[in-house]
Amino acid sequence: MSNINEDYIEDYIREVIKESSVFLKKLEEYAHKNHIPIIHPEVAQFLKVLIKIKKPKEILEIGTAIGYSAIVMAEAMDSYGKITTIERREDMINLAQSNFTECNLIERINVIHGDANEVLPKLQGSFDLIFLDAAKSKYMDFLPYFINNLTSGGVIISDNVLYKGMIANDDLVVRRQKTIVRRMREYLDYICNNEIFESSIIPIGDGVALTYKRED
Ligand SMILES: C[S@@+](CC[C@H](N)C(=O)[O-])C[C@H]1O[C@@H](n2cnc3c(N)ncnc32)[C@H](O)[C@@H]1O
Repeated sequence: MSNINEDYIEDYIREVIKESSVFLKKLEEYAHKNHIPIIHPEVAQFLKVLIKIKKPKEILEIGTAIGYSAIVMAEAMDSYGKITTIERREDMINLAQSNFTECNLIERINVIHGDANEVLPKLQGSFDLIFLDAAKSKYMDFLPYFINNLTSGGVIISDNVLYKGMIANDDLVVRRQKTIVRRMREYLDYICNNEIFESSIIPIGDGVALTYKRED
């Protein structure tokens, strides 16, 4: 039970969406066995469809881990599309790079090693789509940099925004997660209530926010 959706809804969605490729299945098994969190299948499918519609040329991802979501996104993009992904753990970067090489995506995915707090202020370039899947308490800190780096009409997809239901219900909040909950609520309140963005919160996976940056 994810506290976001009834199990039968989640099970049905997972049953009905297309099966992952053999390579992605191998990564799913590796992640499961090694307790590495990766995007849920219904979130992967959501990303794929959104990328097909939006056709981004440049994607920025925060939180690479083993490269699973970067591969999902790169495969959904047109063949010239590029991804920049930021990860602070060297062991994860090594695994991700070897996965990108194995599926011939190494030329299209640039991994930046470092803490996003330090990388983002120096990051050059503009992105049509930003996928945020890193430390949940930091989403609000990253946002000012996204405002600069995101093109007008660009989108931000933020994962885990309902965090096991805790964001929506105080009764579910675990004491040591109180700061994360408070900061995530601030983040959601900001992206939902300001002049720059238009946001929708979608109860799939662990909760996804889809944010559109209004055109100038
Ligand atoms: C949920 S995992 C990412 C999973 C990946 N997006 C996928 O679905 O395949 C989160 C990753 O973000 C990294 N991370 C967390 N906070 C970070 C930060 N401030 N800067 C860079 N990486 C960070 C963690 O080391 C971890 O590997």
